[in-house]
Amino acid sequence: MPSVLIHNIGLLATPMGDKALCGKAQGDISFTEDAWIAIEGEKILAVGSGIAPRCDEKIDAEERLVIPGLIDPHTHLVFGGWREHELSDKLRGIPYLEILKNGGGILSTVRDTRIATEEELTEKATDILLGMLKKGVTTCEAKSGYGLSLEAEIKQLNVLRKLCEIQEVELVSTLMAAHATPPEYKDDTQGYVDFIIDRIIPVVAEKELAKFIDVFCESGVFDSAQTEKLLKAGKEYGLLLKCHTDEINDIGGTSLAASLGAISCEHLIKCTDEGIEALSNNGTIGVLLPATSFYLGADFAPARKMIENNVPIAIGSDFNPGSCPMSSLPLAMQIGCYRYRMTPEEVLSAVTINAAAAIGMADKLGSIEPGKQADLVFLDADNLDYIFYRFGENFVSDVIKKGRTCHF
Ligand code: NIG
Ligand code: FE
Repeated sequence: MPSVLIHNIGLLATPMGDKALCGKAQGDISFTEDAWIAIEGEKILAVGSGIAPRCDEKIDAEERLVIPGLIDPHTHLVFGGWREHELSDKLRGIPYLEILKNGGGILSTVRDTRIATEEELTEKATDILLGMLKKGVTTCEAKSGYGLSLEAEIKQLNVLRKLCEIQEVELVSTLMAAHATPPEYKDDTQGYVDFIIDRIIPVVAEKELAKFIDVFCESGVFDSAQTEKLLKAGKEYGLLLKCHTDEINDIGGTSLAASLGAISCEHLIKCTDEGIEALSNNGTIGVLLPATSFYLGADFAPARKMIENNVPIAIGSDFNPGSCPMSSLPLAMQIGCYRYRMTPEEVLSAVTINAAAAIGMADKLGSIEPGKQADLVFLDADNLDYIFYRFGENFVSDVIKKGRTCHF
């Protein structure tokens, strides 16, 4: 296998280690000037500064800033249609949950997703992923949840499997059949919960179509007793747990999911002190989604309080057609920096090592160190602050995934 030397790196910025960082360590970024990285195959061989080892090939980084490949730990990537028709309702102040209750919102996307073919869904998601790659995202978590029937959930998960083969962003799949109650079970959410447990989870687990299970634990969607049943059933089938909690209302989901051993609780806009304590005590990662708060005109999750209480924070885009039709992780990072008052260093950990931990891949991804996968982003910037300060701009000029230069 030929070795490759990336030299003349102006500044290398990376967290270190193979675990989520919390508390003060959330902002521990190692900065190296005049750095080099040696790669062999898909992996990083060595990292240093000054005199570099000999390699078979050389790439001149032209004094750019280099960071680890960004990881988006929370998206709803595969869906049919869009929902721009909801914008005027939203601007008139009609609440998100009311739109859903009236058969719109998630259920409108379910209708569009059910009639879309696998090919159409694949093509659409491929375009989105290319846009994400251009902004430095090399790994992305993606949830089902717009099918809400056995066939249509499997269709979404099959699309994700197909996407792994045909494009460069690495994907991790989550079964989120518990995203809303479909029309077939109108007024019988409990019946749908049983259907997910008896019919969907076993098939998804058997076909190895998902690594995680996620539930929208929210007033009027799935209550905590239903969430508990669903998460426990997923766990029995070997799925790892994630949970949408405290997005609009706190109904106790965070403490519940954390106590069941969830790897992450996600959204956490309304997370209380009790929820923060549960996350902290269980080492559960808080996946925060600042662009969703921005788009919904909602509050922002209590990120500083979480950091003070040693909750590891990851940041995702939450890309979806309803509450965040925006797929730019860098923009989410910038909003997170300003509105959570997280430093650029804390945010960088949130979208690298902590996001890797939130998808169970921190041993392999999330930092630039020997033995880790060679996922690297080159930015036209002299320092880390600059890419946060110039919000809305894209400074990514090159991306390396698994040791190979991506073409876009
Ligand atoms: O994370 N909260 C539930 N799911 C998505 C929104 C899905 C939609 O509106 O289509 C979210 O915000
Ligand atoms: Fe979400």
